[in-house]
Amino acid sequence: MKSNTRTRTRYSGPIAEAAVHAHSLVEQGFASDEALAAVLDRYPAELFDINLYDYDDEGQVSLRTGARGRLNGAELLAAIQQGRLWVNLRSVETGWPELWAAAMDQYRGVQDAYPGLRAVKNAGQLILSSPRARVPYHFDAAGVVLFHMRGRKRIFVYPGDEAHLAEIDMEQVVSRQTTEELPYVRAFEADAQIIDLEPGQALTWPIYAPHRVENLDRFCVSLSMDFQTWPSRFRNGALFTNAVLRSRGGRPRMTDRMATPELAARWAASLALKRAGILKSRIATFERDFEPQTGVVDGAGAVRP
Ligand SMILES: [Fe+2]
Repeated sequence: MKSNTRTRTRYSGPIAEAAVHAHSLVEQGFASDEALAAVLDRYPAELFDINLYDYDDEGQVSLRTGARGRLNGAELLAAIQQGRLWVNLRSVETGWPELWAAAMDQYRGVQDAYPGLRAVKNAGQLILSSPRARVPYHFDAAGVVLFHMRGRKRIFVYPGDEAHLAEIDMEQVVSRQTTEELPYVRAFEADAQIIDLEPGQALTWPIYAPHRVENLDRFCVSLSMDFQTWPSRFRNGALFTNAVLRSRGGRPRMTDRMATPELAARWAASLALKRAGILKSRIATFERDFEPQTGVVDGAGAVRP
């Protein structure tokens, strides 16, 4: 392992830095207005996340959440294209199996570029976002390949070290005590790797690396595929177990200092702890703040009872 890899991220897996790969999902027709309006029409409402993020001058974020509402697919698409919304269609593997099969085919090409990388589970979300939408600083407890299909996006990828991604914050996210947003300060910008993504490009980055996204003035469509490897599974399980220990006043060792057998043991413990329901998720079902609407500010109309 290169020494700078160690300092740039706490667990990279075989992916040492953010890198762009080619994909063919656009040519296969998955990003056209017609295809998107049709999928919005039939996608199960419970698999929708609709968010609107507001930022202050320091880059601190606040979130409003939307309900699926009553717009048909074409109207919802128009609301996203005109507004300031971020719409996430979860579980593409069940919601749009044709796209998923094509994306898995493309994923295998990306994986082949990293000797030793082997996903044991993949899942996907289709993200439709407004021209000026931004996604705040966060990390995913998984590897990610972002298949970009429409518009232009600027991705900022940061080192996954303790300064940028404190392990105690990782525990909170992995144990669902908080959503994925992380403490962020402007000074992090000096450490970012910045990539502008065009349709037909897929971006991957070191597992766990924190990142944020800015759309570059165009309606954007991307398939975000996340994947677990055995090492990431062990690490997530160990983080969960540590979160439980910490919630009971313990002071667990950092997972960074654990070798595979100890990580595996803590992963096994996490399965039992999850089964026992020891730590309740604090991400409860929250109130919805708006419904998508065309012709209104940000594309966000009032929630109708
Ligand atoms: Fe992400």
